[in-house]
Amino acid sequence: MARTPLISGNWKMNLNHFEAIQLVQKLSYELRGHDFDQVEVSLHPPFTDLRSIQTIIDADRMPFRLGAQNCHTEVSGAFTGEISPAMLAKLDVDYVIVGHSERRALFGESDEDVASKASAVFAHEMTPIVCVGETLEERESNQAATVVETQLMGSLKLITNQQLGNAVIAYEPVWAIGTGVTASADDAQEMCAHIRRVVASIHKDASELVRIQYGGSVKPSNSGELMNMPDIDGALVGGASLESDSFARIVNFKEA
Ligand code: PGA
Repeated sequence: MARTPLISGNWKMNLNHFEAIQLVQKLSYELRGHDFDQVEVSLHPPFTDLRSIQTIIDADRMPFRLGAQNCHTEVSGAFTGEISPAMLAKLDVDYVIVGHSERRALFGESDEDVASKASAVFAHEMTPIVCVGETLEERESNQAATVVETQLMGSLKLITNQQLGNAVIAYEPVWAIGTGVTASADDAQEMCAHIRRVVASIHKDASELVRIQYGGSVKPSNSGELMNMPDIDGALVGGASLESDSFARIVNFKEA
């Protein structure tokens, strides 16, 4: 089954809206139309940049998908400081990252929260990128597969089988995020195959459709090897997505 790879740039809390516009313009200069023939590319700027990026993507007909890094579950209400999925949908956001390990570790998000967010994102006709991944301690004590399975079962429990097939799952081992240490292509493949088996235990057909990204220190030098693995359908890129040259080379992994 051919799954279109999805390469996503997670800018985290970086770049104001002027800097964001510059990066998108540089990226669109470096990437050619045919670069998008076989991959989908999503950009996940901070909330304050979304409107600016949406406007230039739209005006210049750039083939980027717009993404967000988080959202609330409710449509509106007394939730000071939060952003609703309806607001994101109105800005033509297609993909919303939910349950990133930084949100789990620094902002106390549980699998329950992630499940509600994934469901809310689908309810507004966007696609969640559901993040899972083990810590170094969990890997060293041979618990990685169990931890990831528990996160998946908890985080995917509120979506339908059809939504499951349309979801994106990002396997991001916590020890590889922002550290420069990448999981080996074999280790990443092994976990992504495990993730697909867990999805198959929920719904067989969905497991063939669901796209599974790898994330954690993806760079131009390792993206090709990772993306050639049979169960890896893209990358969630942090640091290397802040620089147009490196992100463009990752998008062009087939030519690397
Ligand atoms: P990194 O971040 O590429 O800087 O390791 C990945 C992520 O956190 O999504």
